Amino acid sequence: MIGIYFSGTGNTKYCVEKLIQAYDPMAEVTSIEEENVVQRISLHNEIVIGYPVQFSNIPKIVKDFIVDNQDVWNGRNIFVVATMGMFSGDGAGILARLLRKYGANIMGGLHLRMPDSICDEKALKKPFHKNQELIAKAADKIEKAAQKLKEGNPPQEGLGFLSHAAGLLGQRLYFCNKTKNYSDRLKINGNACVKCGKCVSVCPMKNISLGEEKAIPGNKCTMCYRCINLCPAQAITLLGKRVYEQGGGRYDCE
Ligand SMILES: Cc1cc2nc3c(=O)[nH]c(=O)nc-3n(C[C@H](O)[C@H](O)[C@H](O)COP(=O)(O)O)c2cc1C
Ligand code: SF4
Ligand code: SF4
Repeated sequence: MIGIYFSGTGNTKYCVEKLIQAYDPMAEVTSIEEENVVQRISLHNEIVIGYPVQFSNIPKIVKDFIVDNQDVWNGRNIFVVATMGMFSGDGAGILARLLRKYGANIMGGLHLRMPDSICDEKALKKPFHKNQELIAKAADKIEKAAQKLKEGNPPQEGLGFLSHAAGLLGQRLYFCNKTKNYSDRLKINGNACVKCGKCVSVCPMKNISLGEEKAIPGNKCTMCYRCINLCPAQAITLLGKRVYEQGGGRYDCE
């Protein structure tokens, strides 16, 4: 067994690490950002793969990873973990269908509600103690899922027809353009940026460079919200107009 994940702000990393720890403490866990991850996956028959839902869809970086390495999924037994702030419908299902296309056998799926990582939208913010409650509930759910995996009866969340319809009609059809391509919408406020370089070093897409006056965004943003949550000057925004609160997620994603 190997656990792999993409995690913008640490939620998914936390969940996959916790699941693997409960299932098999000797098993390895790694981010898809690691250079030798594909070679490591190819050594395992059973895989847990985790990702954060974006608009009931797969982040572009995750989709590209699956498609670019399509040969590695054939014949593997895969358990899909989708983390979300509120609702995905078929978060596990949408990735499961893509993996099946490349020959994977889907063992099951797990949906975990975690703190919302969109820190420049006020409406989605919850108080700190509510986020702590969400994390505790997710941890409990993960323990139970690991037990069911061990018993050969893993959860099947997000995989059925009704979940598929809920994901499609709930959000995906309406927002499908948001995750189709990488985004060129990241904004960096030149008055606030102190050119510390943090955003440059943490971006999984190498989408930011340091200019003369300020950090400069490119057009290959996968909307993970890592730089926005970590910028010490709160100078970066994407979907919203200003940063309301950083640190809602777990933020041990560096
Ligand atoms: C661009 C974007 C879109 C999101 N869309 C959804 C969504 O459709 N439904 C939902 O429940 N959460 C949504 N979220 C919240 C994340 O899925 C959630 O916070 C996730 O646990 C973040 O995981 P991470 O810390 O591993 O990146 C979205 C987050 C981002 C950044
Ligand atoms: S992290 Fe923020 S302050 Fe630092 S370089 Fe990037 S935008 Fe500027
Ligand atoms: S620019 Fe920021 S939000 Fe976009 S992919 Fe890079 S770290 Fe993530």
